[in-house]
Amino acid sequence: MCGIFAYCNYLKDKTRAEICEILCNGLAREEYRGYDSAGIGIDGDGNESVYFFKEVGKVAGLRKKIAEAKMNTSKVFSAQVSIAHTRWATHGPPSVRNCHPLRSDPSAEFIVVHNGIVTNANALRLVLQNRGYTFESETDTEAVAILTKYIYDSQKDKTISFTDLVKLVLKELEGSFAFVFKSVHYPNEIVTARRGSPLLIGVKTEKKLKVDFVDVEFSGQDEKTLQAAAPATAGGLLAPPSTGSKIMRTQSRAFMSDDGIPQPIEFFVASDAAAIVEHTKRVLYLEDDDIAHIAEGELHIHRLRRNEEGAPQTPATRSIETLEIEIAEIMKGKFDHFMQKEIYEQPESVVNTMRGRVNFDNNQITLGGLRAYLPIMRRGRRIVFIACGTSYHSCVATRAIFEELTEIPVSVELASDFLDRKTPIFRDDVCVFVSQSGETADTILAMRYCIERGALCVGVVNTVGSTISRETHCGVHINAGPEVGVASTKAYTSQYIALLMMALQLSEDRLSLQERRKQIIQGLHELPGQIRKVLESDAHLREFAQTVLDTSRSLLLMGRGYQHATCLEGALKIKEISYMHSEGILAGELKHGPLALIDENMPVIIVMTRDSLYPKVQTAFAQITARKAQPIVLCNEGDEGIPKNVKTIRVPQTVDCLQGLLNVIPLQLLSYHLAVMRGFDVDFPRNLAKSVTTE
Ligand code: AGP
Ligand code: GLU
Repeated sequence: MCGIFAYCNYLKDKTRAEICEILCNGLAREEYRGYDSAGIGIDGDGNESVYFFKEVGKVAGLRKKIAEAKMNTSKVFSAQVSIAHTRWATHGPPSVRNCHPLRSDPSAEFIVVHNGIVTNANALRLVLQNRGYTFESETDTEAVAILTKYIYDSQKDKTISFTDLVKLVLKELEGSFAFVFKSVHYPNEIVTARRGSPLLIGVKTEKKLKVDFVDVEFSGQDEKTLQAAAPATAGGLLAPPSTGSKIMRTQSRAFMSDDGIPQPIEFFVASDAAAIVEHTKRVLYLEDDDIAHIAEGELHIHRLRRNEEGAPQTPATRSIETLEIEIAEIMKGKFDHFMQKEIYEQPESVVNTMRGRVNFDNNQITLGGLRAYLPIMRRGRRIVFIACGTSYHSCVATRAIFEELTEIPVSVELASDFLDRKTPIFRDDVCVFVSQSGETADTILAMRYCIERGALCVGVVNTVGSTISRETHCGVHINAGPEVGVASTKAYTSQYIALLMMALQLSEDRLSLQERRKQIIQGLHELPGQIRKVLESDAHLREFAQTVLDTSRSLLLMGRGYQHATCLEGALKIKEISYMHSEGILAGELKHGPLALIDENMPVIIVMTRDSLYPKVQTAFAQITARKAQPIVLCNEGDEGIPKNVKTIRVPQTVDCLQGLLNVIPLQLLSYHLAVMRGFDVDFPRNLAKSVTTE
C-alpha cells in the first residue's frame, strides 16, 4: 500500500512553492492508497540540505504545515529532485516520527520513501545498532536508509555510483517493496526500484520524444563483480565492491536530448498513474527488480539480477506508453465522494466493459486478448478463479453461469487461502486472476504459483500496466476507468460482465446453448438503462439508512443461487465503510445455524428477485418472519407475491444470471448512506487502503 511520488526537473525552472504544490497534488491523487500520514523531502538551504514536512492524517494537513513554514518559497530551482509519501503503516503507528521520507542520520545524507514491507528489517536494525547507528523511528524503512549510509560510508574512495550503491542495499533486503532514494552525495539524482509494489515514471518534455522506449542496461560483467563482492548472507552486512561500475551506453536514451543538445525535461515517479496524468501522459512502467536512475535529464534502467535461472524473463526495453485516462476521470466532479461518483458511473462503465466486444446484432462476443488462447481454455480440465475481497465476489457471482455455459468445472478461491493450502495446480488447469488494481499481493503470489506449475494464467484486471495484467499469459481489461474509492463498486459490475463475456465466448460453438446465449446478450443490451432505473431509488435507500437501519448494529443479508454473491458483496460494502457488522448468508444454510440469530430486533435484507430459486427463498422468508423478523425485501418491480406490509427495495427484472448486477447497486447505495449518516469518511475507511500490496 501507500503512495510514492517523486518529482525531478532538469533545465526547467520551478519555484520551491511550485515543487511543493506538485508533490502535494501527487500525494493527494494517491491518498486512497494510504492516508495515515504524509510527508515530503525537498532541497533545503545552507546547512540544512533537506527540508522535511510531515503530518499525521491526510494530505490537507500536510499542505497546511507547508503553507505555515518559514522558508523562501520563491527560490527557483532549474534542477532538483524531491520525494513524497502517503503512508499505510505496517511498522510503527502513524506518527510524525514514523512518517516518510526517513533519513539515514540527522544530516539526512540519504532519505528514502518506501512502499511495502522489508521482512528482515529487525535483523538489519540489530546489526546496524551494533555498529553504532541510532534509529529514530519504529519503521522497517529506516533500516534501509541507514543501511544505505553504512554501505556508502564503508566505501574507501566514495566513487560508487548511486545506482550501484542502491543495488548493494537491495541485495540485503527481503520482502516486497518500492523505494525512491535521494542523497546529498548525489545531488539532483534519484534512484527508484521495485520488487512487488507498483512504480511508474512519467516523462514530460516540451519537444516530442524521439523514441518510445528506454533500453534496460544489463551490466552483466559488473553485476557478477557486485555479486562476488557482496554475497547476500542473511542478516550480514555487505563488503563494498572493489571496482566501479561499467555502464553500457546504447542509443535509446537519445530520446532525452535533441541532437545532442540537452532539453528541459521533467520526471514524475509514482505508484499510480492517477498522480501523473495531470502532468504528462507519457509513462513507463517498471518491472520487478528494475532500478531506475534519473540524473541530468536522463533516465537509465538497470536490473538487479540478469535473467537468473528460474526468474521470469524480462524484455530488454521498457516502452513509453500513453496513458488513456483523463483528468476528469480522477476528479470527483459534482459528487461528494469518489465512491458515490463511481456508483453513479455504472451505466457507462458497464458499456465501456462491453464496448467493441459484444455485438448485439449477431450475438457475438470478441475478447481480443483471449482469442489465441480459446482452444487451450476449452480443453482445460477445470477453471480456477482466484481473487480477494470484492473481486472474489465477482467470481462467486459468475461461477454458475460459467459452469452452465462452458461445462467445465469451476472452483473459486480466495488467493490467501489458495496459497495457504498449497493447492495442487496442473498444466491443464486454467487459472483466472481477477483484480481491480492488478497489484494485490496475495493474488500476484497465487498467479506466480500457478505460472510456475505450468497452468494457463488469465488476468481480469482494471488497471492497465499493472503486475497482473503484465504477468498473466492473456486476459481481459475490464475498462471500468480508474476506481479511487476504497470500496470497490463499478469494478465489481465490470468484472462480473467481463467474466460473463468470457463464458459466452468460450461457449460460442455450442449449438444447444444458442438460445441461452442470445437471451443473456440481449439482457446485457438492456442493462445500462436498467442500472439508471435502479439509481433512481437512491433517495428511497437513503431513507432506509436514516430510518429503519438508523440505530442498527448489525445487518444480515440473505439470498441464494446467483444472489449469494450479492449478499456477500453487500455485506462487505456495509462493514467496510459504515463499520457496522454485516454478514452475507446463503439462505439455504439458514436452518443450519444463522436462524438462531433471528428475532424481532435483528435487521435483515432478503434478496427475492425472480428466478428458479424464488420458491426456496420464499420458504426462507417464511422461516424468518415466523421468528418475528421484519425483513426488507429486495425484489423485482411489479412482484405482487410480496406481502403488502413488507418494506421493499424494487429493481427491474433481467435474465437470472444478470440479476446480481442490478441487485448489488441498492446495497452499494445503502452502505454509502449508512457511512455518510454515521459521519465516516467514505472514501478513506479506517485501517483499509485501496491497493493491498502486502500479504
Ligand atoms: C472492496 O471494496 C475492497 N476494498 C477489497 O475487498 C478489494 O476488492 C480487494 O482488496 C481486492 O482488490 P483488487 O481487486 O484490487 O485485487
Ligand atoms: N513498512 C513501511 C512503514 O510502515 C511502509 C508502509 C507503506 O507502504 O506505507 O512505514
